[in-house]
Amino acid sequence: MATQEITEDMIFQCFAAAQQSQDMSRTAESFVDVEEYENQVMYPEFARWAEKAGYPRLASLFRKVAGEEKLHAVWLRELYTEMGVPGRGEDTQRAIDALETIRANCDALIAMNPDSVVEKALKVAIMVEEREALSIYPQFRDQALAEGDERAAGVYQKVVDSESQHAQWFHAALNDFQASARAATA
Ligand SMILES: [Fe+2]
Ligand SMILES: [Fe+2]
Repeated sequence: MATQEITEDMIFQCFAAAQQSQDMSRTAESFVDVEEYENQVMYPEFARWAEKAGYPRLASLFRKVAGEEKLHAVWLRELYTEMGVPGRGEDTQRAIDALETIRANCDALIAMNPDSVVEKALKVAIMVEEREALSIYPQFRDQALAEGDERAAGVYQKVVDSESQHAQWFHAALNDFQASARAATA
């Protein structure tokens, strides 16, 4: 069976978007669910691809960011001490399934064309981080502000800053990656 090409869009399907609800504690649950998914599943998988493709430094970057996603969940959990295990969001379950679907194909593709999978994973990571930093989490912060919950707003702002930094790190890593690919073919 021919190995199917993996597109950026297919990798982007592995991103789960946290959902805003009227009820702030449900917004918080969705946030924690997504951040813990990124920490436990999505970024470790990207790190595994990078490692397999022969880019251990990139694998370390994915693992470092994974660790910070965990921290984001920890910061918010401090405000919602009763939370426990958040319900698995629909979008998170869909993302888990999407990742499972491409996993075998990815392994085969990495064996044939490692650079292509790694470059796409980096581009998707940038999209994920920018979407959180510029759109999703600023809305959560504003919801908290509108309800006069300054502590939660402060946490969401800290997360926005951190996701922006993640986007910058991934941009820099992509630039390096593309520059060394160009140097190799020059
Ligand atoms: Fe995060
Ligand atoms: Fe992030």
